[in-house]
Amino acid sequence: MNDDLASLIRTIPDFPKPGIQFRDITTLLLDPDGLATAVRRMVDATRGPVDLVAGIEARGFLFAAALAVPLRAGVLLIRKDGKLPGATIAEEYALEYGEDRIAMHADACAPGARVLLIDDLIATGGTARAAVRLLRRAGAEVGQAQFLVDLPDLGGADALRSDGIQVDALVS
Ligand code: PRP
Ligand code: HPA
Repeated sequence: MNDDLASLIRTIPDFPKPGIQFRDITTLLLDPDGLATAVRRMVDATRGPVDLVAGIEARGFLFAAALAVPLRAGVLLIRKDGKLPGATIAEEYALEYGEDRIAMHADACAPGARVLLIDDLIATGGTARAAVRLLRRAGAEVGQAQFLVDLPDLGGADALRSDGIQVDALVS
């Protein structure tokens, strides 16, 4: 079994812009053992009961759904603004390379719902921190966030910890 997850993630230079070293997880997704190992480790790292797993578009959706099934939780979608059909709340954030806006359905979670936040990767933390702001506006209790990959030089995981979130990542 290949459980060296780092070896399954490749680096693409100069994507999507010159100077960006893009960590590409599609190679891990293609590997059945690697994918199973990643999901199992995220399930094992989950603390406490979870009502909803919030996944961030797009690659976060894959892991959110895979975790939600064994955790017996629902999946809450956090999408790029303009994609969700119902009434939404939105937050703006700065990316490592640009700016964007994410949104969730305003009625997606009950006040006090225990939410685990999931994405494939944390870089500057702009996306995940905006997701936490959204979820908290909706009344959720966000205790933990998990990522397949952390890029620690960009400081996102520490910034998210300063927001009171327990942060775990499988690969740094
Ligand atoms: C990537 C990644 C995270 C975010 C991390 O998504 O999947 O969501 O960037 O960057 P940050 O910590 O600096 O905010 P991207 O915006 O490329 O969107 P995609 O998944 O839809 O391609
Ligand atoms: N890989 C994937 N998504 C990202 C990256 C990366 O290196 N940086 C910011 N978002």
